[in-house]
Amino acid sequence: MEVIKIEGGHPLRGTVRIDSAKNSTVALIPAAILADSTVVLEGIPNIVDVKHLGTMIEQLNGTYSLEGEDFIIDPSQLKNTPLVEGAVTKLRASYYFMGALLGKFKEAVIGMPGGCYLGPRPIDLHLKGFEALGATIKQEAGAIYLKAERLVGASIYLDFPSVGATINIMLAAVRAEGLTIIENAAKEPEIIDLANLLNSMGAKIKGGGTDEIRITGVDQLKGTRHAIIPDRIEAGTYIALAAAAGDEVKIDNIIPHHLEALILKLREMGVDIDVFADHVIVRGRQNMRAVDFKTSIYPGLATDLQQPLVTLLTQATGFGMVTDNIYSDRFKNCYELNKMGADIKVNGNAAMLNGPYSLMGTRVKATDLRAGASLVIAALIADGVTEISNVYHIDRGYSNIEEKLTNLGAKIWREEVEE
Ligand code: UD1
Repeated sequence: MEVIKIEGGHPLRGTVRIDSAKNSTVALIPAAILADSTVVLEGIPNIVDVKHLGTMIEQLNGTYSLEGEDFIIDPSQLKNTPLVEGAVTKLRASYYFMGALLGKFKEAVIGMPGGCYLGPRPIDLHLKGFEALGATIKQEAGAIYLKAERLVGASIYLDFPSVGATINIMLAAVRAEGLTIIENAAKEPEIIDLANLLNSMGAKIKGGGTDEIRITGVDQLKGTRHAIIPDRIEAGTYIALAAAAGDEVKIDNIIPHHLEALILKLREMGVDIDVFADHVIVRGRQNMRAVDFKTSIYPGLATDLQQPLVTLLTQATGFGMVTDNIYSDRFKNCYELNKMGADIKVNGNAAMLNGPYSLMGTRVKATDLRAGASLVIAALIADGVTEISNVYHIDRGYSNIEEKLTNLGAKIWREEVEE
């Protein structure tokens, strides 16, 4: 089994360049199949999810190639093949092929998506959206069958502003007849990125980034080039990491506006952060006060940063409570942090800490992607060596993590160990 090992206690210094957004990328690749010619996504991140999505493009008789950081998708020979096993089960975002294939072929067969377990993750809002556009839906033997005689624009109100449902409905609605209105749509920056890609392919989408998205369907979408936005979650993770373990770290190639809630919260804790147009400088390892964190939809504090922030709170003085209002069961990292010397109490969708705690290196498990990030930060500040298993979770979302941390002065390496 492959593990990441980190020897803690080496203060970090230097610059880390943030890659393009995973959560955009995993929507933009399925979106590209709606075109009838080549789509180039600039700045593709080096994460495992991209490989799985590439495999699905090939299963659909499309092709993809990588030239430097350009991801080139040729969907001109696409065939509507059922995607029921293999790559489709490896990540949750494979369900964006539902919307994209439904839009393109008016029909799709997709296996149940994989991804991180964070508590129940239903897709009822996606399916209601497809039904409103005219699709019939059957669920059988672990797969979802979608079919529409015609896709016709509709007004769709989302009970919750789900990122996934908003994206999936957009992907189908760009090829529906007439006007679709998504009310109470998600406003995350990744939605705007998708709207920008689709519009440059010839779609007519207005209101991306607001809670009302209006889409006028078109008959044809064409190839284009699109630069993916920076990853605000990778950026937020490195900001938390720098606050915990950095002397002075520049987090470069970011859109600080996407991270406002995080930056304000960290300043409340006493973290020294200077904000510039496309980077921030964090001076960490200072006395931090505990604060309460509550996750919410954008522009609130992202649930994806909650687990890295729990680790930061282990180093702050006083009582702090972290409440996750998006996912009910995103605290498995706390049990691992407790193995390292923390004393975090988890109750329902909240974790309580009364720090600071000294952390000691030991064997821990990355139970999901952001739990992995939480443990990497803990390992950087712990005494001794921490061994993190289930590293495939980390590789799903953090590109070149050893290289980036080594450049900052961390001692991090991979090893094969006996299970
Ligand atoms: C996306 C992100 C994920 C992030 C999350 C919240 C991707 C690939 N993943 O996930 O990293 O943590 O947004 O910002 O972009 N819900 C329903 N029914 C549905 C859909 C969602 O009840 O049909 C609920 C979910 O259970 C959850 C909440 O809505 O409690 C938010 O989910 P959603 O915004 O859809 O998140 P994802 O798109 O899955």
